[in-house]
Amino acid sequence: MRILVTGGAGYIGSHTVAELQNAGYDVAVLDNLSNSSEKSLERVKMITGKDVTFYKADILDKEALEEIFSREQFDACIHFAGLKSVGESVAKPWEYYQNNITGTLTLVEVMSNHNVKNLVFSSSATVYGDPAIIPITEECPKGQCTNPYGWTKSMLEQILSDIQKADPEWNIILLRYFNPIGAHKSGLIGEDPNGIPNNLMPYITQVAVGKLKELSVFGNDYDTPDGTGVRDYIHVVDLATGHVKALNKIMENAGLCIYNLGTGTGYSVLDIVSNFEKATGKNIPYRITERRPGDIATCYSDAGKAKKELNWEAQYGIREMCADSWNWQSKNPEGY
Ligand code: NAD
Ligand code: UD1
Repeated sequence: MRILVTGGAGYIGSHTVAELQNAGYDVAVLDNLSNSSEKSLERVKMITGKDVTFYKADILDKEALEEIFSREQFDACIHFAGLKSVGESVAKPWEYYQNNITGTLTLVEVMSNHNVKNLVFSSSATVYGDPAIIPITEECPKGQCTNPYGWTKSMLEQILSDIQKADPEWNIILLRYFNPIGAHKSGLIGEDPNGIPNNLMPYITQVAVGKLKELSVFGNDYDTPDGTGVRDYIHVVDLATGHVKALNKIMENAGLCIYNLGTGTGYSVLDIVSNFEKATGKNIPYRITERRPGDIATCYSDAGKAKKELNWEAQYGIREMCADSWNWQSKNPEGY
């Protein structure tokens, strides 16, 4: 089966391409490389020994999409392409709504024109806002997002659900990721953020490699066991295999399905620091600072639905997530 992966040169996309190839799928990647490097796909080839067809194209470019879909017959699309920086989205809301929403509408239009109606969409636990229940099940009501990035995910979930409802030939799986970290065991592919990282794990690895002085821990007065924020960190390779399982499901004419992809376990910021230190032997100096605006105290999943319906469950624990993040960073201190 031939799968189109938009955003496949990026962090989660490149790991998913590798797992798809390992599972026997044929893969084509479409990416405009706005936040990634084509090198990631060369590295994927080193891992799997298989070629990836690469289209450097933008999901906003309808003509380019039409040409690709005319040339090839895809069975499904996994749609990662999008802008994802929370802070940037507050400063550039138009760019985020345009890229993520118009881009997805354009992609879906072209897919429909070519009768490709199987879609896996990258959503986020951010759609739960400050969650009404912990652990978070898929039945937990969606909440108020604190930034335009989050709203693009929440709105796209609604848009895609409405499209599937109006035309039941569509099979659409919305995957709500918790906090992806880690990297492929080989250390060949991993997360390569631009500039100073906003997210916790890439910040820690850059402290460990000596590029940053110390970690700022954003608040220790939350209502959590040690006062620091609690999240559900998930190994990116587990996340990638979740997409392979979602494709199996989609081929059973799934209709519309929503799954959390998390481990079901929450770790605090200080838990992550101590696990990273134990897993790598590196010391991570840190300082407690003010809370970061928009942050919530606790967010972790109930991962039971994906286990039951997709036969998927995260395999990697926190130590491996830390060790693999470090393996990637230490082998690639400047990224790709
Ligand atoms: P990433 O930035 O590494 O990958 C996204 C890819 O999309 C990049 O390669 C980028 O070049 C490409 N892209 C962006 N706009 C494009 C466009 N208009 N046309 C073509 N390509 C375009 O990010 P990631 O961490 O791999 O995230 C993948 C998806 O998962 C995103 O949709 C993101 O919002 C979502 N997500 C990520 C996280 C996370 O913590 N990383 C959490 C929840 C959801
Ligand atoms: C953030 C985004 C979320 C997005 C997710 C993707 C915000 C408010 N939310 O989630 O929309 O889907 O990234 O990965 O930005 N922390 C520190 N110091 C740091 C960095 C983080 O203490 O330098 C803390 C945070 O306060 C939080 C935890 O570490 O408690 C995790 O933060 P982060 O990795 O940024 O992820 P989220 O905030 O969960």
